Amino acid sequence: MLTNEDNQLLTQTDAGTPMGELFRRYWIPALQTHELESDGKPQRVKLLGEDLVAFRDTEGKVGLIDERCPHRGTSLYYGINDGCGLRCMYHGWKFNTEGECTEIPSEPTDGKFRESIKIKSYPTKEVSGIIWTYMGPEGSEPDFPEFYWVGLPDENKLVERVWQECNYAQAMENDLDYVHAAFLHKAHGNQETEEGILSSDLGIDPNHPLVKNPPVKQSVQDTNYGKRCVAVGIGTEEENAFMEIHYIFPFYTYPPRFGGEDGMWHAFIPRDDHSTWTWDVQFAHNRAIDVQAQHDRRGLKLDENLKKQVNKENEYNQDRNLQKTGNFTGIRGIANQDHAATEAMGTIVDRTNERLGTSDLPVIHMRRILLKEVKEFQKGKEPLKLENQSLKNLYSEGLYDDNKKRWQDAFPLKEEFEKEKVLEKR
Ligand code: FES
Ligand SMILES: [Fe+2]
Repeated sequence: MLTNEDNQLLTQTDAGTPMGELFRRYWIPALQTHELESDGKPQRVKLLGEDLVAFRDTEGKVGLIDERCPHRGTSLYYGINDGCGLRCMYHGWKFNTEGECTEIPSEPTDGKFRESIKIKSYPTKEVSGIIWTYMGPEGSEPDFPEFYWVGLPDENKLVERVWQECNYAQAMENDLDYVHAAFLHKAHGNQETEEGILSSDLGIDPNHPLVKNPPVKQSVQDTNYGKRCVAVGIGTEEENAFMEIHYIFPFYTYPPRFGGEDGMWHAFIPRDDHSTWTWDVQFAHNRAIDVQAQHDRRGLKLDENLKKQVNKENEYNQDRNLQKTGNFTGIRGIANQDHAATEAMGTIVDRTNERLGTSDLPVIHMRRILLKEVKEFQKGKEPLKLENQSLKNLYSEGLYDDNKKRWQDAFPLKEEFEKEKVLEKR
């Protein structure tokens, strides 16, 4: 349960809000490389409540600029992208990727007026098929976060961006919630799945340790990237299943995986306070990823704006017969199941009214660190720094071991991720 003030602090991310300003101090995935062609159609992308337009110029450079033309405010999305700039359709003002005004056809040739016009623009970086941006103050950019999967070959990865119709915090809380997998994602029978793949479109196999029984114990550790959440579930008669989730401050996660299963990384980027760009990177460690099987498993069908065709309006195509015979929800596609549960909470869940139990421990810890860091940030503390030597080696794992072992012995935190390792260096 949170106070109303803390719920607002947690969920509001427009420019000028404390969390919004903190989030602007981290690298944000904005859109995929393939979404922009040189001199091709610009794309609208709303981030942290800001209406922006992205375009790729004649030389291949990416611009991420204010959608509103500074002349009289029409949308630059409809503009003409050619000759190294985006030209407004209304009166022809033209802007380059840096947001500088390069032409005003209707004004005298004296460039003083033109030179005084500068549109908001954010720096971008293209890494691993994703265009990332930094929306914070100039000169405060953190190092680019070199996540483990960034270093994998392209054919080992599958990247998806989807418009989720709820606030980022509740979308992200779902990733730190072990117990939901045993219900929301439970398939009633064993599933035919490809090698390395956790679940089918119906859900997770009832014998998978995530689903077999809700975890008997959960713990959360402080780390130099955020939080490591460990769950102990029942594996076999002699063995427990030890599973981890990583929460990387402030909006990235690695959901639980077992050895041999394809990995997964998420980012929850506020589109505005009522919607989220949910990024999903599936990755296979040592082979090409099975793109079709992963798409089928997640079940998302997106329109050209990356909104879901299976959504609240059509009640996620819930099939009540399937709910009796096939899976717990009657909803097909594991991502659709997640989206249904989190969107049905309302776009910003009222956390003053919830009743958290012991199984919500990781969610409580995530909120606690976000609120603690944002309150300290308001008082002038620098944002938590992510260390690339940690990020490079970090992903979720899971294993079976003797059920008499303590989780700290069976599945200890690797020394390189200990919080003190970074604190010492500060
Ligand atoms: S509104 Fe864009 S050029 Fe006039
Ligand atoms: Fe889920």
